[in-house]
Amino acid sequence: MMPVRRDVHPHLPASRIADWHVRGRHVTHFVNALSIFFPAGERFFMDSVRAYRDAVTDPELKRAIAGFIGQEAMHTREHILYNRLMTDAGLPAEPLDRFVGKLLNVLRKILPKSWQLAHTIALEHYTAMLAGGLLADPDQMGGSEPGYHQVWIWHALEETEHKAVAYDVWNAVMKPGLYRYLLRTFTMLTTTVTFWAMVFVFHIRLVMADRECRNKLGGFGGVVRFLWGKPGVLRKMMPEWFDYFRPGFHPWDHDNRAQLARIEPLIAQIEATSARAGVSSRAPSVRAAA
Ligand SMILES: [Fe+2]
Ligand SMILES: [Fe+2]
Repeated sequence: MMPVRRDVHPHLPASRIADWHVRGRHVTHFVNALSIFFPAGERFFMDSVRAYRDAVTDPELKRAIAGFIGQEAMHTREHILYNRLMTDAGLPAEPLDRFVGKLLNVLRKILPKSWQLAHTIALEHYTAMLAGGLLADPDQMGGSEPGYHQVWIWHALEETEHKAVAYDVWNAVMKPGLYRYLLRTFTMLTTTVTFWAMVFVFHIRLVMADRECRNKLGGFGGVVRFLWGKPGVLRKMMPEWFDYFRPGFHPWDHDNRAQLARIEPLIAQIEATSARAGVSSRAPSVRAAA
């Protein structure tokens, strides 16, 4: 599986930033909370893989690393633009993004490179699980505003395409044995606690900043159903989460590469949606828009 960098820019209507999801504003804010993690998070992933680039000798894996970095750079760019729509709507995406950036900078300073890579492979497994679930179950997002739906499906497809790259780097550069296994699995446990605690807080912050839904406690019931009932985003993810603790685990043990046939039709769809909205399907420069 060779990841390919694609310059993709779905059109996200600004007016729908707080209610683009078919299940309403509370679920929209939950998914938007995940978006806040991407710019700083994916830069961290790129850096932690880049740190081992020279230690990798296999030319195939070297090419895959280049594709991985190219894809994550495009995701970072699109999520910066996505998150800016939240800021423009008065939602606290900016301070939350800054918080993630600062936290990851601390990890960069205090953790050895191998521990940073361990965090990356744990979080890449998370993105692969979330992506795989989204692609397998149209009920998760089907019927939502098309541009937002497209940005998430595109991201999910490319996360699937490169899901094993960081892991293959890990296997190539870390000596096999108990230490490698314990570092990988221990990091998954700590990451699970800290990541979901932060998602929870970010979600609450977004909901509380939205006048339209902060007094509607019932909306949280919809989020609980979304995660644990039907479609059950987190419930369905559990077997794959446990699978990570198997000593011989590899991301492609869960073979969902058939989904990747959707990439080209999706890109055509993204271009058609942008054309209908009368906007360019090329991304504005992120820096210029800053
Ligand atoms: Fe990504
Ligand atoms: Fe990724």
